[in-house]
Amino acid sequence: MSENRSSFTGKLGFVLAAAGSAVGLGNIWRFPYLAAKYGGGIFLLVYLILAVTFGFALMFAEIAIGRKTGLSAIGAFRALNKKYTFIGYLASLVPMIILPYYCVIGGWVAKYFGVFVSGQMTAAATDNYFTDFIAQPTEPIVWFFVFLALTALVVILGVEKGIEKVSKIMMPVLVVLSIIIAVYTMFIPGAGEGVLYYLTPDFSHFSAMTVLAAMGQLFYSMSLAMGIMITYGSYMKKDVNIESSVHQIEIFDTGIAFIAGLMIVPAVFAFSGGDPDALNKGPGLMFITLPKVFESMPGGTIIGVAFFVLVLFAALTSSISLMETVVSIIQDKLKWNRYVTCGLVLLLCVALGLPSSLGNGVWSGVSIIGMNFLDFFDFISNSVLMPIVAFLTCVFVGYVLKPQTLIEEAQQNGMAMKSQKLFTVVIKYIAPICIALILVTSILEVLGVVKI
Ligand code: PHE
Repeated sequence: MSENRSSFTGKLGFVLAAAGSAVGLGNIWRFPYLAAKYGGGIFLLVYLILAVTFGFALMFAEIAIGRKTGLSAIGAFRALNKKYTFIGYLASLVPMIILPYYCVIGGWVAKYFGVFVSGQMTAAATDNYFTDFIAQPTEPIVWFFVFLALTALVVILGVEKGIEKVSKIMMPVLVVLSIIIAVYTMFIPGAGEGVLYYLTPDFSHFSAMTVLAAMGQLFYSMSLAMGIMITYGSYMKKDVNIESSVHQIEIFDTGIAFIAGLMIVPAVFAFSGGDPDALNKGPGLMFITLPKVFESMPGGTIIGVAFFVLVLFAALTSSISLMETVVSIIQDKLKWNRYVTCGLVLLLCVALGLPSSLGNGVWSGVSIIGMNFLDFFDFISNSVLMPIVAFLTCVFVGYVLKPQTLIEEAQQNGMAMKSQKLFTVVIKYIAPICIALILVTSILEVLGVVKI
């Protein structure tokens, strides 16, 4: 539709850019703590099944919608069917909620980079270091500002391309380093039990919450159900194969999450002496466990510095893609100039980020439906809004637009689409039914109406 939209050069360019957005804290920080909490192997199994079905179908749909229309979420839904523009608006809300708390956690990563650079690894490996740190009123906020400023600087100066270039080198290095750390971890005495916990599904740990958590994580990690892949698709050239691009992004994203789990979950067993509570540490898990691993490694300080700088870059490419999205949505809508819009987005980040940070300490007494601010924002975006957007997208594609329209988009220039059946069945029946069931049960559970 739009003729002069700039596009990615070739397939590799597309896959790497989309992977830059997808691979981030979701893979390295969020996936391992959810896997630890929701039963290890069973969570991994559910996640993998969802990735090759829901993940595939939704990512395919979003990229194809973007490429077909050449527009971002709101415009794309409007162009396809005016009545469904609201799905685009709903999707646009998600990155606005995620970005502020994403920067709070990005700040934690920056802090740990600082800690390792200044040689304080031993202190960081002690039991209460992390909880004491996040409970402080000012220090975490300073690091939050540092991370937010870095993100904003890149977006304001428009130098994303430079960052992308650097991260294309850093991402493979991160993969290699993570594999080395994971292999080392598996051989720490006591870790074997953790490897088993992570790799063998135990069905007694299965519940509706396992599926909900895995589904929310899938959307989060693959940057789905928030319009981002629609935008990326709108920059994709017509001669690039959508289906195989989706497979590559999925393998990349899931592979990194899998390795991160292998690096962190067994270490929890090795260092906790079998304390079951250790698995339930939640968002702090990576920050509590990894310094202990590094401390036990020869050359741990250097490995720690390298690791945290690489994670910082992975987190930055994701937060930049989040902020870009938010800025461009507001800019399109209000027609403000870029600087003013960035200013507004910064204000929004500070307004929602401050409570997310303070909720771990000074404001820990304040809770919304039993959660602190950060967990609440995480829950609302991942477990409520994203499933709703995903559900609506499935219904829209399955019954209004029709799957065939998107399959044809993928088949241009004589390209084959192997998983037509899978795509159609998942998007029309399996995904919407499962998402609706899980969403309703989990909301009732959180509100205390039912116990699952
Ligand atoms: N997918 C990113 C991650 O795993 C998070 C993210 C979500 C980034 C949405 C951009 C957009 O960390």
